[in-house]
Amino acid sequence: MASPRHLLKLSGALLLLCVGVCVARNSDFSIVGYSEEDLSSIDRLVELFEKWLAKHQKAYASFEEKLHKFEVFKDNLKHIDKINREVTSYWLGLNEFADLTNDEFKAAYLGLNAAPARRGSSRSFRYEDVSASDLPKSVDWRKKGAVTEVKNQGQCGSCWAFSTVAAVEGINAIVTGNLTALSEQELIDCSVDGNSGCNGGLMDYAFSYIASSGGLHTEEAYPYLMEEGSCGDGKKAESEAVTISGFEDVPANDEQALIKALAHQPVSVAIEASGRHFQFYSGGVFDGPCGAQLDHGVAAVGYGSDKGKGHDYIIVRNSWGAEWGEKGYIRMKRGTSNGEGLCGINKMASYPTKDK
Ligand SMILES: *[C@@H]1O[C@H](CO)[C@@H](O)[C@H](O)[C@H]1NC(C)=O
Repeated sequence: MASPRHLLKLSGALLLLCVGVCVARNSDFSIVGYSEEDLSSIDRLVELFEKWLAKHQKAYASFEEKLHKFEVFKDNLKHIDKINREVTSYWLGLNEFADLTNDEFKAAYLGLNAAPARRGSSRSFRYEDVSASDLPKSVDWRKKGAVTEVKNQGQCGSCWAFSTVAAVEGINAIVTGNLTALSEQELIDCSVDGNSGCNGGLMDYAFSYIASSGGLHTEEAYPYLMEEGSCGDGKKAESEAVTISGFEDVPANDEQALIKALAHQPVSVAIEASGRHFQFYSGGVFDGPCGAQLDHGVAAVGYGSDKGKGHDYIIVRNSWGAEWGEKGYIRMKRGTSNGEGLCGINKMASYPTKDK
């Protein structure tokens, strides 16, 4: 607990600065969201916090909560600044998660339930025979019109639905030439065999549902509600369903296989995203630290190399909105000596199939 004197001084500063919020609103934020001078005094920190609150339109129920959040914010800022001094390949920023402890963040924004029994099926891997020398040096499905705008799962453990839908939107665009945003909410409401809505799920169960249910409707027809509903309840309109034929798993812990698949279509991947570095990732080629306890479903949408620095990476689309990372994406280092890949990205990749 802070001392009463400290609290008093702090609340005085906060009250003063509440008046100044309108002025703060228009100021420029650098890419990481703070400058060195912001760290120089308690007044500057309070000012930075107020600017951040205005930018992210945060409001707290009580003054006590605000004081508590300020402590969390300062602690996160300390971490962000420390890492930015130590690490050169990527950087962290004061993003919308800056008032959350790592535990609060973990509880709210992930949602992968990695079932140990998922593998072991005899499904084939159609890109097995692709020759490594035929692979392009880089692929970016965003530039080929196979990736929709970045979405935001909000406080619902529905990452698995967003990962699934990104891969289905991708293969549908590649096969039909029609890039259409599809419905995560339909999966949350209807794909309940193995999946648990906002409490987590798995992409393969969702692919399986889509293949057997006759397809997925558009985002517009069945919009995102950030909560679980009954199947069909959230549907606003009729639209033609987008179908898939089935799905296949990329052989586990085989990065070359993942790249082979990725050269042909966006791929659903699972990673460990619960780390504090991941929480505040703001740009660059991320190379950890992270473990391989898969807790988040995302979509790989390309790969490439950072020519200047010699980093090879996989381009990963997240579902935390466009403010996080590089406009909603993260470049994750590939070619690590670890077979599981950075944050376990090679462990559990899969993709939908669609016949012409
Ligand atoms: C693209 O697909 C969606 C969903 O099936 C459909 O509603 C839309 O009419 C299609 N657009 C074109 C140009 O075919």
